[in-house]
Amino acid sequence: MTQALLGIDIGTSGCKALVLKLDGTPIASATATYPLDRPRPGWTEQDPALWVDGARKAVAEALAAAGPLEILCIGLSGQMHGLVALDAGHKVLRPAILWNDQRNGAQCATITERAGGLEALLGATNNRMLIGYTGGKILWMRQNEPELFARMTCFLNPKDYLRLVLSGEVATEVSDASGTGLFDTRRRIWARELTERIGLDPALLPPCFESSTISARVSATGAGLFGLPEGTPIAGGGGDSVIQTIGSGVIAPGELQTTIGTAGILAAALDAPVDNPDGRLQVFCNVAPDKWHCMGVSLNAGGAMSWLRDTLWADGAPDYERIVAEAAASPAGARGLLFLPYLYGERCPHPDPAARAAFVGLTARHGRADMIRSVMEGVAFAFADMHRLMEPLGIPARLVKASGGGARAPLWRQMQADLFGCDVVTTQGAAEGAAYGAALVAGLGVGVWPDADKAAAACRPLTREHPDGPTGERMQAMLELYRGLYPALSRSFDALAAMDMQA
Ligand code: XUL
Repeated sequence: MTQALLGIDIGTSGCKALVLKLDGTPIASATATYPLDRPRPGWTEQDPALWVDGARKAVAEALAAAGPLEILCIGLSGQMHGLVALDAGHKVLRPAILWNDQRNGAQCATITERAGGLEALLGATNNRMLIGYTGGKILWMRQNEPELFARMTCFLNPKDYLRLVLSGEVATEVSDASGTGLFDTRRRIWARELTERIGLDPALLPPCFESSTISARVSATGAGLFGLPEGTPIAGGGGDSVIQTIGSGVIAPGELQTTIGTAGILAAALDAPVDNPDGRLQVFCNVAPDKWHCMGVSLNAGGAMSWLRDTLWADGAPDYERIVAEAAASPAGARGLLFLPYLYGERCPHPDPAARAAFVGLTARHGRADMIRSVMEGVAFAFADMHRLMEPLGIPARLVKASGGGARAPLWRQMQADLFGCDVVTTQGAAEGAAYGAALVAGLGVGVWPDADKAAAACRPLTREHPDGPTGERMQAMLELYRGLYPALSRSFDALAAMDMQA
């Protein structure tokens, strides 16, 4: 029987299951969507039962489409940082609090203070406690839902909850553990002194594996629920934004991954941990035991384009291909129009929830094409801005591997080639998102590939854009002006936020 790997990704809007041949070629995939709750402004929650239903549907559909085969190993991936609180019987205590939830600023500040300040926290974890990380959510629960908190015996991230349902095992792995903000990412172990300082019982921390280690096996119950043979191995897996880096073939020094999804991610694989100055980047453990991961996450990428589309075409917006084609009518630099994309506040390079977006340089001669182009350029400038934090850490740009929905637009890839001054490629599998990386890590777990470099090599290039000299010069000049905008406007943003006229 044909042998294959199964990757399952618990995304924010749906679950994707992907069946992969052992040479890295996708055989079949399926996605089942589910909703997101916003019970209060700034809150985002999901019932973990939705993930399980979604995963059951997606796995059943993908396996049916793939035909008879033997699944050698399952790799799990998912939205990072989400808090799934469990009681002693492993029952879910409350809806999961998700990565984009904004409720726990005060608790993040408490953790930083109890750690002994930002420098001390960076010493312990090499990361800030960003709003959205799991650590702040646990403290929020302790403060605001003390009765539920008292019943919590363990917490998991979203994909680890799926592992529990598949296997009965409570476990996580180093990349998602990094995103809790409670993990010593340099030593790849829980930061126990930190958890002591913030008064968390170490028993709450799940056992943590390397990403490619076989962490569990499908139980009889899991087999019944998912139609998978009992005993199928389950690799540790990885958080989506980490695992999709190997899934885009990014593993060697000098390779960068850009992802244009709702958010924009710039990421690189490292052979050793680097110090994270001011904690403005995210330095996590990567999915191979001898690799680390450095990324900047901008909250405004594809989301900025969706906003523009919904705003400019209130009824009946054209598809993105036509919108991007319109942008091509505007020259590089959008005839002197800049867009600062912080529509949803920002995380990197400016960790500032009060940051706002702005068109700067707008004149009566600018039209829709210029506005679309400047939004796309603003997103590309945000990548270059994040890379400016990485360069001093010895993370150069020699080749960019583009992924996410935005990578489908050649114009957006060209902008990146011009700004980074290197080729931009798309790779086999990257369009499948984190499920592809999860399947690769499953393959690492059972020795299909001997190491992460060999697994990443399955991601062969499909398209290639080269930097264009004259356009690149104009883009660089605009980038310099773009970099002056946030320092010039941030006090106005604070004042506007303080006026609180959002309602
Ligand atoms: C990474 C992050 C997001 C989520 C959503 O730090 O917050 O990429 O993992 O998928």
